[in-house]
Amino acid sequence: MIKKQTALEKLMEERKSVRKYEPGVKIPRETITHILQQATTAPSSSNLQPWRFLVIDDQEQKKELRIAGFNQAQIETSSTIIAVLGDNEMYKNAKQINDLNVELGYMPRDIADMMIANSETAYSAFSDAERTNIAHLDAGLITMQIVLLAKDMGHETVIMGGFDKVAFAKTYELPANEIPMVLIAIGKAALPARNSSRLPLEQIMRFSN
Ligand SMILES: Cc1cc2nc3c(=O)[nH]c(=O)nc-3n(C[C@H](O)[C@H](O)[C@H](O)COP(=O)(O)O)c2cc1C
Repeated sequence: MIKKQTALEKLMEERKSVRKYEPGVKIPRETITHILQQATTAPSSSNLQPWRFLVIDDQEQKKELRIAGFNQAQIETSSTIIAVLGDNEMYKNAKQINDLNVELGYMPRDIADMMIANSETAYSAFSDAERTNIAHLDAGLITMQIVLLAKDMGHETVIMGGFDKVAFAKTYELPANEIPMVLIAIGKAALPARNSSRLPLEQIMRFSN
């Protein structure tokens, strides 16, 4: 039986990393803001939402950033770069997040208080590196939502881990708790993306019994 491809399956199949962009194309800031707002539906560890975004759409700054971005042309030619940062002090927002859960009627007060206490105790006991690791996973989840939302709105993207994170943090004077994770280039394709193969499913999955 051939099942009809769902809209999500089609979107996922059609998203590809585009590296050649039409220079000079602008994406309105409202569009980027809308994508980021929608993307925040992503799940995160203890709902601490450690993602932070620095949006770079100034042409001169993108040109400069290409140097820290190992000279990847798409940094300069795409319309907008979204730098996804991870806040490794994310537990400091546990109270704000869970108080809002109570206010919105999503959670009783006693559960919220327990969540706040648990998050503050557990996360503050983790090392910086452990918290950064958690932030990386959460940043990956929201990154995927961003690129799919962008594709759904007709924009092409490429995710980039290949950039000098120390230089980036220095240029944008990031506070020590904000760790650069990936850059996402968004724009209009000048050339379609190369297709890319995937490992066969039999090689990557197994049932436990
Ligand atoms: C975490 C991460 C880092 C990546 N870094 C880069 C990068 O620095 N430069 C680049 O051109 N592509 C980068 N990519 C894109 C991958 O090369 C691409 O996703 C992969 O080859 C599969 O191709 P597709 O995205 O077109 O399906 C990265 C992707 C991910 C998920």
